Amino acid sequence: MSGQKIQAPKGVSEYVPGRSNAFEFVRNSLIAPAKRAGYQLIELPVFEDTELFRRGVGESTDVVSKEMYTFEDRGGRSITLRPEGTAGVMRAVIEHGLDRGQLPVKLWYAGQFFRAERPQAGRYRQFYQVGIEAIGLDDPAIDAEVIAIADSGFKSLGLRKYRLEMTSLGDTASRAAHRVDLLKFIEGLDLDEATSERAKMNPLRLFDDKREEMKKAMLGAPLLMDYLNAESKEHFKKVLGYLDQMEVSYVLNPRMVRGLDYYTGTTFEFVHELLGAQSGIGGGGRYDGLMQALGGQSLSGIGFGLGVDRVLLAAEAEGILSEDAFASDLYIIPLGEPAKEMALKIAKDLRNVGKIVEIAFGDRGLKGSMKAADKIGATYVIVLGDSELGSATVELKHMKTGESSTVKIASLQQHLKP
Ligand code: HAM
Repeated sequence: MSGQKIQAPKGVSEYVPGRSNAFEFVRNSLIAPAKRAGYQLIELPVFEDTELFRRGVGESTDVVSKEMYTFEDRGGRSITLRPEGTAGVMRAVIEHGLDRGQLPVKLWYAGQFFRAERPQAGRYRQFYQVGIEAIGLDDPAIDAEVIAIADSGFKSLGLRKYRLEMTSLGDTASRAAHRVDLLKFIEGLDLDEATSERAKMNPLRLFDDKREEMKKAMLGAPLLMDYLNAESKEHFKKVLGYLDQMEVSYVLNPRMVRGLDYYTGTTFEFVHELLGAQSGIGGGGRYDGLMQALGGQSLSGIGFGLGVDRVLLAAEAEGILSEDAFASDLYIIPLGEPAKEMALKIAKDLRNVGKIVEIAFGDRGLKGSMKAADKIGATYVIVLGDSELGSATVELKHMKTGESSTVKIASLQQHLKP
């Protein structure tokens, strides 16, 4: 049977050899600091009851109103592919009673998320996030630690051209006071119908309007930061103080608007300078009412989601990912049957001590195999023939420099890069 080639659905990110090592490296680098701070893995389904996101993320958001992949399953239930991670984590924390033990509950996750957005560079319909959530305590030191964990991930990759933007959305009382004045201000603007509808649902969204005339019109709008009550102000001040202590630099952005409705208090975004329109490489904040809105007890929480696809693009744009980091340590070319047996044994032993070792299979001869070694970018190559087997020594050739040295097979391990 033959037919037309089938392609991946529009706007999904996928990683195949050539780039998948770099993707894996970025993902693991972003996870590592969370593990070192005692966060534990939570592995959740990629689809959930649609109601979870309606209630958790908010009907007024683009994510819920326009971008969800929602379908009816075979039992007639409304199911949605997760557009973000926090609501699902909270659902699971409540369902498993994790909030009945030691607080804060500290969780990390990594995986695919789905939003039906208009695809463009750095904006996909299936994308990959690494996230953490710390649930159950209001301590501003946790806010600072969460932010510092994200920052360490970026720093460990060597990223430099990004900034951390910070704001506080205050508590319910602060937000209510600001909302009254903001709505008054907006009434005085000459808005088209759609914009004024948006303003009614959530007036803060107007700060996110990308149109020049709207940006201008919003210049004089009252800012939430100026409405923080004493408690919210004190909390935020402490967070900034702790960040200073840890030497995590930030800028204040009182006009920040996050795309999800659950945020309260400390809110932040990491923005990369070389990524153009889709410059947000990560973001997060507090969500003090979320657990209760999902039927749990009244506990606060804070967390972040980092966009692994975008962090990879950022790392590539900064030129900080070295190909060598992913190269095989050794490529073994066996010539003849006894050599092949020996190659399998050498490879097995070296792999057992952590080396990346490949063998030239298929009896392609010396020339073909050397070409293959070059193609896969192996650091060293050895050729095993009758004389090498006889002397138990090999010529260890460094592929880039072309230099080679005679080495005992038994001591190969010491000569490979550490
Ligand atoms: P978010 O800001 O919607 O937050 O997403 C976090 C990150 O995911 C973004 O900064 C971006 O890097 C990446 N991202 C989002 N949408 C796309 C897309 N369509 N294509 C590629 N990358 C994308 C959240 O999702 C919250 N759950 C974060 C959080 C956790 N807040 C508290 N806890």
